[in-house]
Amino acid sequence: MPENTSQNGHKYTRVWCDGCYDMVHFGHANSLRQAKALGDYLIVGIHTDEEIMKHKGPPVFTAEERYKMVRGIKWVDEVVEGAPYVTTLETLDKHNCDFCVHGDDITLTADGVDTYHLVKSAGRYREVQRTAGVSTTDLVGRMLLLTRNHFKQGCSQFLPTTQKIIQFSDGKSPKQGDRIVYVAGAFDLFHVGHLDFLEKAKEKGDYIIVGLHTDPVVNRYKGTNYPIMNLHERVLSVLACKYVSEVVIGAPYLVTEDLMEHFKVDVVVHGDTPVMPDVDGSDPYEYPKKVGKFVTVKSGNDMTTEKIVERIIRNRLQFENRNIKKEMKELDVLKKLESLDFKQNGHVTSL
Ligand code: CTP
Ligand code: C5P
Repeated sequence: MPENTSQNGHKYTRVWCDGCYDMVHFGHANSLRQAKALGDYLIVGIHTDEEIMKHKGPPVFTAEERYKMVRGIKWVDEVVEGAPYVTTLETLDKHNCDFCVHGDDITLTADGVDTYHLVKSAGRYREVQRTAGVSTTDLVGRMLLLTRNHFKQGCSQFLPTTQKIIQFSDGKSPKQGDRIVYVAGAFDLFHVGHLDFLEKAKEKGDYIIVGLHTDPVVNRYKGTNYPIMNLHERVLSVLACKYVSEVVIGAPYLVTEDLMEHFKVDVVVHGDTPVMPDVDGSDPYEYPKKVGKFVTVKSGNDMTTEKIVERIIRNRLQFENRNIKKEMKELDVLKKLESLDFKQNGHVTSL
């Protein structure tokens, strides 16, 4: 891709985004989708563990894991490792980016300074709408609840719409001669293990269909408070992955002959984790195995949703403090903005 040069009279716009991208979720993916739509080439700068520790508190995922996850998002063209916490004009210029894009929330340094003040005053800042109802803070909160209450109370504040699914989906059918791969699972808290698995599954064909089990089915075989993310949320996380072509929303647990014929599946793939039997003890992959259309692949990654929850619980106090600190910092800024607004307008306008 030529840098900011014109090709047939068209100027390429290079867009910069940056952030922690810790426990990457569909809110992050949605901001990157919107950012990409504002230009032609999207570069994402990701902060180091040390920077995040200093300004926010301990990240859940290591820098290597966070870099990999963002590289797996289909709207991302390039990742810059170890991007500075405060976005400077030098950073934009170094990467030849026209402007920086961020969600419409407040991001502050440890000293309470807006991390985008420099690019904002230079007119090189654009805002996209933050996805309501999901955040790393909220997901950590769900895990710390550690009860099934989040099901009873409705675990998510996110309002799923068909429009969002359309925006996330490629909407492409398989091409003539495409080899169709089918994989199934929970894909809860979509993580690096899932990403490595899908990369390997993609090597088995051209068009990957991911069958997502419903929340009650996942709860049956995972137990306790799983899934952490509901089916609608899991659909968006999986659709944002660059290896995925299509998703079945609420796939049957048994991979049947009907299902394989319906989607013209050439091969069914399962990864490194054990296969849980169906309610009656049967193997969900019995049919594809019988017809010689079943393979396993090694993701080479031992991350699981359960391990993420363990990490959170092990560092429970630190994460709780991180959440409290973040809320207090934001409340403080809101208060300051409100009093400024009151002084200027005599009333508080909605922020
Ligand atoms: N973002 C978003 N919608 C969300 C969460 C994040 O649009 N629900 C956007 C942020 O506005 C930012 C980008 O994702 O432009 C990267 O944000 P990052 O610094 O990683 O996340 P936080 O906003 O700190 O995330 P969280 O509140 O999830 O801790
Ligand atoms: O556990 P879950 O149902 O989310 O897994 C979905 C798919 O990803 C399964 O095929 C599983 O074996 C695979 N996987 C993997 N390596 C991991 C985690 C999941 O191969 N670390």
